[in-house]
Amino acid sequence: MRVRITALALALLAACAPEPAPLSDAPAPGDPTRGEAVFRAGGCGTCHATPGSDAAANPRLGGGRELVSRYGTFVAPNISPHPTHGIGAWTDRQFMAAMTRGVSPQGEHYYPAFPYTSYARMRAGDIADLWAYLQTLPPEARDNPPHDLRFPYDNRRLLGVWKQRFLRPGAVAGAGDDADVARGQYLVEGPGHCGTCHTPRAALGGPDYRRWLAGAEALEGPDGLPAPNITPASPLIAEAGLDEIAALLEPAETHAQSHRWGEGMEAVRRNLAHLPASDRRAIAAYLKAIPARE
Ligand code: HEC
Ligand code: HEC
Repeated sequence: MRVRITALALALLAACAPEPAPLSDAPAPGDPTRGEAVFRAGGCGTCHATPGSDAAANPRLGGGRELVSRYGTFVAPNISPHPTHGIGAWTDRQFMAAMTRGVSPQGEHYYPAFPYTSYARMRAGDIADLWAYLQTLPPEARDNPPHDLRFPYDNRRLLGVWKQRFLRPGAVAGAGDDADVARGQYLVEGPGHCGTCHTPRAALGGPDYRRWLAGAEALEGPDGLPAPNITPASPLIAEAGLDEIAALLEPAETHAQSHRWGEGMEAVRRNLAHLPASDRRAIAAYLKAIPARE
């Protein structure tokens, strides 16, 4: 009963939550070639590629991957350009709203299993390029199975309250104004969504921004590895040089050192491998520049 009342109170609060300001004008048409790099930096294929398809070469974004969490199981939807099964009938503005405000074309809140709290920090031009790239991928005629979530998490309206607390599109860490560090900051805090695994959770499951990148308990999911602290509080980040840290961002097969490679991080490494080496170094520079957090 208590749960029910809390859920009701939250739903009422959600109903009263003010609507965010409207989006500014749609950006100019994007560039699909640049958009592929944004797609890799954002790791979209890791969740949205149809299981069994080859996300590396020619991503088929029919969805269907199950994401197990303490709230239940989410199923990544079809984001291929199919007009009815995917998002092919969307406008670029609707895509922008999904990415930066976590709102669907029908005005419903998305679950943060879709890491829009990070994507909200992406530049409009990058989102336009990403949108242009997505149009070049094959349309997939696959239905979206529903999520299987426990009560009260099956109610999207509760997410209004959650978003007021955790959707903060500003920069997270004070990292100085070096150009490399700034590029790394953009990649980590924006498209890279590194905080979803490496930042501990606050109550209600959102990121604890005061302990940004300070590491998290065993992750939910098949391998259940803890995500290490990647601030300078970790001796590794504090002591290693930029090239050594950048090498930790490369896939295991290119890496001599033996390591307990987590599948989640390996997918990130395979995505980052599509970016220029200067971007991995920029990420390393950012990790060394942010405040140490235990
Ligand atoms: C960690 C897994 C994960 C990653 C990474 C991810 N998504 Fe998603 N995405 C989801 C889930 C789960 C949903 C469903 C959210 C919901 O139903 O509220 C979703 C929903 C969406 C939707 C809404 C689809 C619809 O039918 O309404 C779009 C668009 C989308 N994602 C695009 C992207 C793009 C573009 C990227 C890369 C920049 C990306 N996602 C990365 C998990 C992910
Ligand atoms: C899906 C969850 C997940 C995401 C997203 C993620 N990581 Fe990781 N990361 C892990 C796990 C788990 C490990 C430990 C296992 C391993 O090293 O493979 C790890 C390890 C690391 C390490 C090695 C640290 C050490 O002490 O050996 C670095 C550096 C790192 N991640 C940086 C990043 C950066 C930068 C991003 C964003 C571009 C990122 N991670 C995104 C889960 C994640």
